[in-house]
Amino acid sequence: MAFSAERLEQIKEIKNRYPAGKHKSALLPVLHLAQADHGWLPIDVMNDVAEVLDIHPIEVYEVATFYTMFHLKPVGKYVLEICRTGPCCLVGAESLIQYLKNKLNVEEGEVTADGLFTIKPVECLASCGTGPVLQIGPDYIYKENLTEEKLDQLIESLRAKG
Ligand code: FES
Repeated sequence: MAFSAERLEQIKEIKNRYPAGKHKSALLPVLHLAQADHGWLPIDVMNDVAEVLDIHPIEVYEVATFYTMFHLKPVGKYVLEICRTGPCCLVGAESLIQYLKNKLNVEEGEVTADGLFTIKPVECLASCGTGPVLQIGPDYIYKENLTEEKLDQLIESLRAKG
């Protein structure tokens, strides 16, 4: 089982917020807990999520593969989720993604050799007026009006933080 006794108690409390037979409604918060515990969502963890919520595994996979905040393979400590939707692309998001890939020497979805970073292009982050924009998981902090210089500063500060 992917969850500690303490986590199972927490999950029980979340499930109890919903009527009997509607425990699927707890899926998003439980997936967030699972990812917080494991860093990403391996198939056996998703299967355990299905078991604790008494739903079919496919129902978990459907949700975990739809939302980009869920990681289906290992990621770095800092996930750089860069918006690649139209308005951000118009102000340079694509070239910044390429800049980051070159700077960190990884492709999208890979983990840097030091284990710190993963670049994950995502759809609109609802900050279209301040693009290019990225959010940094796992805490989902926004960085807006990005430039190469701002990315350099961001990477350096995160490296210093470790
Ligand atoms: Fe990038 Fe909306 S298009 S935040």
